[in-house]
Amino acid sequence: MSAPVAFVTGASAGTGREIACALAAQGHDVALVGRRTAALEDVAAEIAAMGRRALVLTIDLLDGAAIDAGIDRFLDWSQGRVDVLVNAAGTTGPLSPQIGGFGLADFDTVIGTNLRAPFAILTRLLPVMRAARTGRVVNIGGNHGMRGRAGRASYSASKWGLRGLSRSAALEAGPDGVTVNYIAPGPIAVPRMRKAWAERAAAEGADEAAVLETYVADMGIPLGRPSEPADIVNMVLFLIGPGGRNITGQELVVDGGVIV
Ligand SMILES: NC(=O)c1ccc[n+]([C@@H]2O[C@H](COP(=O)([O-])OP(=O)(O)OC[C@H]3O[C@@H](n4cnc5c(N)ncnc54)[C@H](OP(=O)(O)O)[C@@H]3O)[C@@H](O)[C@H]2O)c1
Repeated sequence: MSAPVAFVTGASAGTGREIACALAAQGHDVALVGRRTAALEDVAAEIAAMGRRALVLTIDLLDGAAIDAGIDRFLDWSQGRVDVLVNAAGTTGPLSPQIGGFGLADFDTVIGTNLRAPFAILTRLLPVMRAARTGRVVNIGGNHGMRGRAGRASYSASKWGLRGLSRSAALEAGPDGVTVNYIAPGPIAVPRMRKAWAERAAAEGADEAAVLETYVADMGIPLGRPSEPADIVNMVLFLIGPGGRNITGQELVVDGGVIV
């Protein structure tokens, strides 16, 4: 029997990259989606070194035709098999401007990346999973899909919408044995975030530990630290593993206790 197959968006960086590698380490062949081919190829090399197959799919998720063409290539490569779909790609859009300070184009980019693209992918891959009567979908949302935040209206709306998409898909696919869940991370210490904290420390002449402490206090994180990518990876592995067999349509909050 062939190896299980996973399709992971946002696989060129941060959490999606860690998820793709963890799935490969667990024996999956993995399709890697992002815009930066060289970064995806790095991940593919890491996966090949584990003895698994990787398919690099350079796709701008704002482009529906590119998504369709990429999924055609993917299904050809996997011979029609898809066991796991993780929608991890995301964007916050412009940081901080409040409603009135940004336009429809910015709103569309955030909704297009965080909500429309997962819908476009589900449109193609959920029927494949349902026909096979097996499959696990994990959508990476955010705890700003569970609460509003000034300066993040588009982002919060997109992640909130992804919850509705996930729950509805779960109800539709449940009778075919396919689960669909949503992980709501709070801040994750990915390279992009670490860079921002380091830049703030340099600008303020402060040390990085002090900047992080202030950030954690501002974000109101009871456990006192941002997540590591591994915290999200472990939840993905739980949901696609035996522990997730009877869990669907749920929002699993991994944010150090912000949403309680
Ligand atoms: N980091 C956090 O603090 C945090 C907190 C809560 C939720 N989240 C969510 O967790 C997920 C992962 O976040 P992250 O911070 O780990 O990621 P990241 O380091 O910011 O990387 C973003 C990923 O999304 C991909 N991407 C963005 N726009 C795309 C587009 N138009 N087409 C194709 N790919 C696109 C990027 O690929 P390319 O650059 O190659 O295009 C990259 O792989 C996201 O859904 C994010 O909203 C993150």
